[in-house]
Amino acid sequence: MKTLIIYVSIHHKNTEKIAKVMGDVLNARPVKPWAVKPEELSDYDLVGFGSGIYWWRHHWALLKLVDSLPRVEGKKAFIFSTAGMNIPWYNHRALRKKLKEKGFQIVGEFSCKGWDTNGWLAKIGGINKGHPNERDLEKARRFAERLKNLYDQN
Ligand SMILES: Cc1cc2nc3c(=O)[nH]c(=O)nc-3n(C[C@H](O)[C@H](O)[C@H](O)COP(=O)(O)O)c2cc1C
Repeated sequence: MKTLIIYVSIHHKNTEKIAKVMGDVLNARPVKPWAVKPEELSDYDLVGFGSGIYWWRHHWALLKLVDSLPRVEGKKAFIFSTAGMNIPWYNHRALRKKLKEKGFQIVGEFSCKGWDTNGWLAKIGGINKGHPNERDLEKARRFAERLKNLYDQN
């Protein structure tokens, strides 16, 4: 199963840690949205989209990339994120909606807490310090293994 992982991680590289462990399991090199040509996605069976959550949605560059993609017929996708407030049903809604509108089949969603020092939180050392921690990374690994076992025919 040829997999591409597209991610943005700007605050503390929290999401990058998740992208890397998933990439190791799925044999995929994580790339930034600005390095992806929309037509490239046709080379892949599964595409992961993830970032930190900034103002209750994924990074704008990820959302913009999805807007620029051609329509697909049920291509498999998964969503991931790290956030100060880990509320995936809410935080993922903009990306989830855009992917569905493009015809993607969302086969899984993963999220965990990420160290957050945004705004006044910096004054108190932030929240979720140390996250993603080893347990979070293990959960991300297991999430990716489930996808691999479900969909990898080789
Ligand atoms: C500008 C900015 C806005 C943020 N907005 C939210 C938010 O709306 N909800 C939330 O739960 N966390 C928010 N956060 C916290 C980040 O989602 C969290 O720290 C995340 O792990 C950052 O991931 P990254 O290190 O991969 O960029 C925000 C952080 C920044 C810097």
